[in-house]
Amino acid sequence: MLLHHPVELLGVLLAGLLVPLKQAAEVESALQRRVAMVGSSVLLAGPHNITLIHSVQWEHLNGTASHTILQYERHNLTIHMPYIARAHLHASNGSLLLEDLQESDSGIYRVTVNRAERESLTILLDVLKPVSHPQLWSRGLVAKASGEVLCEVAEGRADTFTWKKDGQMLPPDRSYHLSGSLSVLHLRVAKKSDCGSYSCNASNGISWQETSLNVTVAGLSPPLQDVLRISVVAVVFAAVSGWGIIFPVCQSEKLRIRGELWRWLSAYTCGLVCISSILAGTAGILWMREEGPSIAVIVPEIFLLYVIVITFLVAFTVTFQPTKLIQLKSTADLITSVPSHAGSPCPPVEAHSDISSLSFPWPAQRTMGYAAPGGVLLVVVTSSFHMKNIHQRHEEGCTAFMDVTTLVVSTAAVLALPILAIFLCYHTTQGWLQEHDSSCADKERSFEMSLPISMDPDLTS
Ligand SMILES: *[C@@H]1O[C@H](CO)[C@@H](O)[C@H](O)[C@H]1NC(C)=O
Ligand SMILES: *[C@@H]1O[C@H](CO)[C@@H](O)[C@H](O)[C@H]1NC(C)=O
Ligand SMILES: *[C@@H]1O[C@H](CO)[C@@H](O)[C@H](O)[C@H]1NC(C)=O
Ligand SMILES: *[C@@H]1O[C@H](CO)[C@@H](O)[C@H](O)[C@H]1NC(C)=O
Ligand SMILES: *[C@@H]1O[C@H](CO)[C@@H](O)[C@H](O)[C@H]1NC(C)=O
Ligand SMILES: *[C@@H]1O[C@H](CO)[C@@H](O)[C@H](O)[C@H]1NC(C)=O
Repeated sequence: MLLHHPVELLGVLLAGLLVPLKQAAEVESALQRRVAMVGSSVLLAGPHNITLIHSVQWEHLNGTASHTILQYERHNLTIHMPYIARAHLHASNGSLLLEDLQESDSGIYRVTVNRAERESLTILLDVLKPVSHPQLWSRGLVAKASGEVLCEVAEGRADTFTWKKDGQMLPPDRSYHLSGSLSVLHLRVAKKSDCGSYSCNASNGISWQETSLNVTVAGLSPPLQDVLRISVVAVVFAAVSGWGIIFPVCQSEKLRIRGELWRWLSAYTCGLVCISSILAGTAGILWMREEGPSIAVIVPEIFLLYVIVITFLVAFTVTFQPTKLIQLKSTADLITSVPSHAGSPCPPVEAHSDISSLSFPWPAQRTMGYAAPGGVLLVVVTSSFHMKNIHQRHEEGCTAFMDVTTLVVSTAAVLALPILAIFLCYHTTQGWLQEHDSSCADKERSFEMSLPISMDPDLTS
């Protein structure tokens, strides 16, 4: 045939396309669907309205291959190899009973009666394992982040998964199936209202199983929990060092802690301020890494860095180069200056010394004096800011707030020990002042002796 017109060509093409479609539709409508459980038996019925049966043939079509199961011809029944023990024919109506089903028995079964193509019937058989109890678990359920709840069946193939939250059906578009065994429920921006009891019902043609899970959305991601812990520890450090700063100031002028003990208290207090500033700075950096940079965090970070440097230098000098400190004061009026400064750790606060004799310029001295109390205040303010933000973030989830009591108590106990030891030593010294006998005081006195000028006339008397 010659085609002279494109329209004719199109018609031919369409006809070519439509014919197979029509055939497929016929097959589809003729197809019966059956499901059965592994290990059970199934009776596949032959064509209904056939009164006289003289031949029957059953075939199994899986994929493209076709296997004859049995042939029946004038009372002569032949059952083929793998089916000998499992297949039974009801010769009166052409029905096939298939026993001990396996998953490999799934596929299309075709029966042809009386060798007539018209009297054939196809049945689609699905042999399924019953679904096992689904496993439910959640992934990444942190407030404001996207999370998911997963439902997986280990055994058997599930055709349908349905989800419920607190007994209410969830719309099917909230979840999707990844395979016959896994369904994922998405929580796009996890929030408090997503907390609750979720259940997943996995079912196939022969069975269903349901499992529930209590889902909680954590307010704080692990890094934010770290920020909280670090901030809390920073505040404890600051509080203990604040105690070390305030305590001597509150003592009466005459009984003030001084000498070697004062040196250790100063070094320890400055060291604590330095470490608490490092901790507060770290908390700020971790916070910004999670939440992005913000000016409200960067500015205190700069001041904290400043406090870290100053308090480190002071603590280092007081600990390892006390002579520098003494030198620094020796040219000054020591009798008046030392007792007055003794009250305030991070010593070169109010050195009434000659400007020219100092190893640091005068403004530096002043800044150092404010560094410790200022650092304590800064650490408390920035850490409180972080803790407030973290508490707000925590409120967006539904888990219990992190318990930091143990952390606070243990840190405080450990940090307070050296201060307590210093005070204990100091009080023993006070006792010695009356009784003139104490090892602590001896040490203190030896330090006093090393000073070019006696620090306190009371002591040497
Ligand atoms: C065919 O016959 C057998 C027994 O003769 C009977 O158990 C079965 O139900 C029949 N099947 C149909 C589809 O009628
Ligand atoms: C069986 O009955 C259906 C209608 O119920 C009919 O369409 C079909 O042709 C019949 N088959 C035979 C073999 O008589
Ligand atoms: C078809 O079924 C037979 C058993 O009836 C099995 O041995 C064979 O592996 C199956 N083939 C496919 C492609 O599933
Ligand atoms: C039955 O069929 C087998 C082979 O299919 C054949 O050898 C045998 O002669 C047949 N018996 C009768 C009685 O038709
Ligand atoms: C689970 O799903 C199956 C099939 O959809 C249904 O028959 C069954 O009632 C469901 N179970 C529950 C507890 O809703
Ligand atoms: C979920 O929590 C409720 C109470 O809050 C409890 O009664 C229930 O047993 C829990 N369910 C599971 C699966 O843990």
